[in-house]
Amino acid sequence: MNPIHAALFERAQGVMPGGVSSPVRAFRSVGGTPRYVRSAAGADLHGEGGEHWIDFCLAWGPMILGHAHPEVVEAVTRAVRDGLAFGTVTRAEIELAERILAGYPHHSRVRLVSSGTEAVMTALRIARAATGRARVLKFSGCYHGHYDAMLVKGGSGLVSLGIGDSAGVAPGTASDTIVVPLDDEEAVNAAFAAYGGEIAAIIVEPVPANNGLLLQRDGWLRHLRRVSERHGTLLIFDEVITGFRFHYGGYDGQCAVMPDLTTLGKIVGGGLPVAAVVGRAELLDELAPVGAAYQAGTMGGNPVAVAAGIATLDVLARGDVYSHLEFLGAHFDRLPKKLTWLRQGSILWPWLGRGAPPTTDSGIDPLVKPAFGRLHATWLERGVYFPPSAYEVGFLSAAHRPAHLDQLVSVAEAWLSVEDAK
Ligand SMILES: Cc1ncc(COP(=O)(O)O)c(C=O)c1O
Repeated sequence: MNPIHAALFERAQGVMPGGVSSPVRAFRSVGGTPRYVRSAAGADLHGEGGEHWIDFCLAWGPMILGHAHPEVVEAVTRAVRDGLAFGTVTRAEIELAERILAGYPHHSRVRLVSSGTEAVMTALRIARAATGRARVLKFSGCYHGHYDAMLVKGGSGLVSLGIGDSAGVAPGTASDTIVVPLDDEEAVNAAFAAYGGEIAAIIVEPVPANNGLLLQRDGWLRHLRRVSERHGTLLIFDEVITGFRFHYGGYDGQCAVMPDLTTLGKIVGGGLPVAAVVGRAELLDELAPVGAAYQAGTMGGNPVAVAAGIATLDVLARGDVYSHLEFLGAHFDRLPKKLTWLRQGSILWPWLGRGAPPTTDSGIDPLVKPAFGRLHATWLERGVYFPPSAYEVGFLSAAHRPAHLDQLVSVAEAWLSVEDAK
C-alpha cells in the first residue's frame, strides 16, 4: 500500500471522529487503512497513491451510469453556472418530480429531500399523521438510515418493542418501533395480533440489501401488503437502493405489490444529495404547507443536485443501460465460480458462509467477516474496489465491461484456492 493513505488517515483522525464522514469508510469492518480516492471516471477509481481500481462500490449505489458520465457532468456544469442555490421554487424540481413519477405511475406526489435518512423520517411522519398512530414495524436486517426510530434492534422475543441500537437513541423513541425478523410471516402476524390497531406503518426494503443480500421468498411482500391493509396500516417500501436500479421505476413494478409510500435516494440524485418520498396525493398532502405534518429543507430540491438527478434519469429512460446491466448479469452467471455469489439484477454479494444463502440477518455466519476482510485486502491489491464490509453489497454500472467482472471473479477464485489450501 502506498504510504500516502496511512498519512492522510492519520491527519484525518486528528480532525474528524474516526477520520471519516461516515463510519463504514473507516475500514474497521475489513481491517487495514482506508484508501483515499482522488478522482473517478467510468468504472475506475483513482487513488491518491496513483492506484487504479475497478469500482464495485459506486458511491454505495448512486453511480449506476458510472463515474463522471458526460451527460451528467454537462448538466451539473450548466446548473452550476446558473447559480448554486436559490431557496426558491424552480422549474428543475418539477422536472425531476415528473421523471420520478413516470417510474412510479401509481403514485402522484413527490417531496424532494436531501438524504435517504430524511426521506424515511418524512415517510414515517406522513404515516403517523395520516393514521393517527405512533408505532412502526421494521425488520431486523433492513437498514433505513440513521433516524432515531430506525436505529433500533429487537429484544429477545420473536416480536419485541425496540431498544436503541445506537447510543443516543432515547428509550421512549425506540419503544415505538416494533422489530421482527425478515422471512417470518408468523412474527408479522403476532406483531399485528399484539399491536395491530397501533401500527402506523410497516417499513421494509423490498430487496433487503444492507445486511448482505437477503433475498426473500415470493409472497413475502404480498403478505405484508395483505396484513397492512387488514389493519389500516400503511406499507412503505424503502427503495433508496432499489429505486431505478433494475428498470425505469421501482421494485414494486417488478413484484406487483404496490406500497402506500416509497422512499428513494441514491440513483435519483445521480451522485448528488437528492432523495424523495413518493406516494398518493392524499398521503403526501399531510405535509406542510398543505397538511399539518412539518417537513422542510434549505437544500431540498437544490438546483445543482436536481440537475444531476434529471440527467441520470434521462439516460436511464432510454433503456440501453438496463439492457447492458442484464447483459453483464448474464455474463456474470456464466463465469465459472467456486465462490457463491448472490445476485439480484445489478446488485451482487459474495456469500462466504457455509450452507444455504441466508434470508435473515441472524442467518449470517459471523465467520464471514474475517474471511471477507482477507478477500477485500486481496481485491485491493489486485485492482478491485469492493465495498469495505462483509455486509455490504456491490453494484454494477453502465460503465462496467465483462473484463471487469472477470477480474472481480478471478481474483476472488484465486484467493479462495489459497484459503482452501490453508
Ligand atoms: C435502504 C436504505 N434506506 C435508507 C438509507 C439512508 O440513506 P442516506 O445514507 O442517504 O441517509 C440507505 C443508505 O444506504 C439505504 O440503503
